[in-house]
Amino acid sequence: MKGLILAGGLGKRLRPLTHTGPKQLIPIANKPVLHYVIEDLVNAGIKEIGIVVGYTDERIQQIKDSAGNGSKWGADITYIRQSGPLGLAHAVKTAQTYLGIDDFVVYLGDNMLKSGIKEFVNEFENSDAAASILVTEVKNPGSFGVAELDANGRIIGVEEKPAMPKSNRAIVGVYLFKTTIFQAIDAIEPSRRGELEITNAIQKLIELKKKIISHEVSGWWDDTGNVDDVLHANHMVLNDLRHEIKGTIMPEAKIIGIVNIGENSIVENGAVIRGPVIIGNNCKICNETYIGPYTSVGDNTIIKNSEIESSIIMGDSEIDTGSQRIMDSLIGRHVKIKTNANMPKAKRLVLGENSEVML
Ligand code: G1P
Repeated sequence: MKGLILAGGLGKRLRPLTHTGPKQLIPIANKPVLHYVIEDLVNAGIKEIGIVVGYTDERIQQIKDSAGNGSKWGADITYIRQSGPLGLAHAVKTAQTYLGIDDFVVYLGDNMLKSGIKEFVNEFENSDAAASILVTEVKNPGSFGVAELDANGRIIGVEEKPAMPKSNRAIVGVYLFKTTIFQAIDAIEPSRRGELEITNAIQKLIELKKKIISHEVSGWWDDTGNVDDVLHANHMVLNDLRHEIKGTIMPEAKIIGIVNIGENSIVENGAVIRGPVIIGNNCKICNETYIGPYTSVGDNTIIKNSEIESSIIMGDSEIDTGSQRIMDSLIGRHVKIKTNANMPKAKRLVLGENSEVML
């Protein structure tokens, strides 16, 4: 079985962060989402992995720099370029030559699953189904692909983001296929948003009388599509954080709960960290700073006179909020937050396109 990670999307709902980098590289507990996906495939015994990347050279290079040839996971990664944002089924079709005659897993490069895909894959390999989809109950099915199941868990219909969902079961972004999916992709037309939808290809398989089974997700699932989802994924991963201190904690600093601090990082006297919190390498958490639960701080970051909680600071940043508290925030790389005693009432902002500030 081969793995196919789709990492070509534009991530419009995560702008401005996705102006400069692919959403699959947004760090969750200081590790890119894409790495969780690769690890999950490798854990399920799938080591031949194709990654479908977009069409902008800079993004493709960033993904290649991050995942390389896969050797650090004992995997063999091949990159496949998609000609445009033409849909998930188009991305799968682009990889047809790479996939050959093998069964394969399609894993959307922004999806994260607590319990992984091992059981899901085993069940499919022991079945005679043409496809298997992963489903889970959600409150807002209209925002996803939606599956209709019969009493035996067999799929009788699927629809992409329907206005009137026939069930509350969302289709999670991991799919298992045999090569018959290519026949179905060849038979569908682009949707209203101009894309070849994988959901429509699965519906076509149903119309071709192929057997499609489903597997219920156990544990949490997150598709990291917007800021709230990214912060939710960060919470979920930090819930399982391991306590490890590689850096230096000065004697008058206070560390409470599960905290993971990287190499060459210093927590100075007077700083308070209440876990679960992860701090990367080469960071400085200065006096008069409080870092609260569910915060991830990436490498090379200096934080002083600040209170930060439930946030992701991606790294290479300098933060001084003048003791004001930042919460539920997603802060990109190379950011400077400063205070200015000469302008007590006024705020000075230099923000890129699509930035969002809540004052
Ligand atoms: C895609 C699929 C949708 C699925 C979702 C899961 O939607 O089209 O069927 O439920 O992924 O993450 P998108 O995130 O591209 O809007």
